[in-house]
Amino acid sequence: MFGIIGKTKKVTIDKVPKHIGIIMDGNGRWAKKRLKPRVFGHKVGMDALQEVTITASQMGVKVLTVYAFSTENWSRPQDEINFIMNLPVEFFDKFVPELDKNKVRIQMIGETRRLPKETLEALNAAVEQTRRNTGLILNFALNYGGRAEITNAVRLIAQDVLDAKLNPDDVTEDLIANYLMTDHLPYLYRDPDFIIRTSGELRLSNFLPWQSAYSELYFTPVLWPDFRRAEFIKAVEEYNRRHRRFGAI
Ligand code: FPP
Repeated sequence: MFGIIGKTKKVTIDKVPKHIGIIMDGNGRWAKKRLKPRVFGHKVGMDALQEVTITASQMGVKVLTVYAFSTENWSRPQDEINFIMNLPVEFFDKFVPELDKNKVRIQMIGETRRLPKETLEALNAAVEQTRRNTGLILNFALNYGGRAEITNAVRLIAQDVLDAKLNPDDVTEDLIANYLMTDHLPYLYRDPDFIIRTSGELRLSNFLPWQSAYSELYFTPVLWPDFRRAEFIKAVEEYNRRHRRFGAI
């Protein structure tokens, strides 16, 4: 049982999802509605991410995997890509100190080697600075694509079979999970219990396709920059309602 003060009321949450995945969508539309450039939405979206991370950490969530940049996002205008790639640099200066204070540990998944040098350096610095923290893991999915992740796992397994390190019979679901990018997460929390997508789109868009096999899904029309503490608590309350067994075991 967990008590948390929401904006207007005390909320009791019996079952906190241990791993939550978030598809942070709608930044561009949020900015456009305010007659601002799309990138303004990404900037305010970072504030939302900070607020949600701190709330999740207070609730006892163990892992928060956030879809920050997909392999498909490279087709956006170059200016916008440059802006998004600079976000981790700003993130490091502005947000990491508070996250660090809250014992948040930063990690990442995705083809991060292909990110611009400064972006990767800022991310690596955040990972390094928070390496010893024991609280929530904020796991950034950056240049991440789920099918590419599975394809890569199959390639590595095939190579290990070829090198006689594995027999085809050794290939189990557990073994495949060891070859995915989420293998660095604590074993019990590798798969998200709950996935939230903002902005009204009803898709998973190549986000954790293997790991989401049993995830509860939550879709909300709220645009990401508006998805703050109260909206996050509402989503987790909904997760709790789905898990009420009404007296059954
Ligand atoms: C989707 O909105 C959002 C993104 C592609 C970028 C999200 C990134 C952040 C919120 C910050 C991440 C922080 C770090 C440190 C990397 P959209 O542009 O697709 O919005 P639209 O669907 O309305 O166009």
